[in-house]
Amino acid sequence: METIRGKVSLDLDLTGLNARLTNYNRVILDLGTGDGRYVHCLADNFADAFVIGVDACRENLHEYSRAKLPNALFVIANAQELPSELNGLISHITINFPWGSLLESLLTGDCMLMHRLELISRSTTSIDVRLNGGALAEQGWTLEAGAEQIYNNLISAGWHIKTPVMMHADVLRKFPSTWAKRLAFGRDPRAMQLSGYL
Ligand SMILES: C[S@@+](CC[C@H](N)C(=O)[O-])C[C@H]1O[C@@H](n2cnc3c(N)ncnc32)[C@H](O)[C@@H]1O
Repeated sequence: METIRGKVSLDLDLTGLNARLTNYNRVILDLGTGDGRYVHCLADNFADAFVIGVDACRENLHEYSRAKLPNALFVIANAQELPSELNGLISHITINFPWGSLLESLLTGDCMLMHRLELISRSTTSIDVRLNGGALAEQGWTLEAGAEQIYNNLISAGWHIKTPVMMHADVLRKFPSTWAKRLAFGRDPRAMQLSGYL
């Protein structure tokens, strides 16, 4: 699979990945990681976890992927075509403030995405999906209706999801991702969090 550090792409096979993962039981995957700030923050704060950021767009990843954290890795891939090297490895999935085709796949219950999420999971993987109103409005949904649609799609795909919880500006301000900060100080500082497990 293609990984990135700074501006340099590196191919990492399963043997190489397993070598990086030795000694880490907890493996967190952040899908649609953007600039990778969230991954950097988790890896820096939880030395016992290995954190993988995945995004389809490489340009935003240059800064945070440069940091030499032994427990962070950045992968260039589409969410709907996650590399098979990740299969069965992930103990926790986060999807923070998705837009574009990632959000569309969540809204339609796209089986390519749902199947990939299942393939990368272990028997008891947990998930957090955080949705913002602006991105949902661009796809024709209100925050509440979009969150309910994605809740239903995750349930249909086999996830056990709790009732969605509203995230207001105070929570967004403290959330360590670049997009959360933008939302917190933007026109519509509301998001919804869906949490559950497989
Ligand atoms: C609004 S940004 C959020 C970035 C980050 N999670 C944060 O909280 O700052 C949404 C990200 O989803 C990524 N994305 C959209 N569709 C994707 C897909 N199909 N596969 C992987 N990444 C995707 C975009 O490239 C973008 O970086």
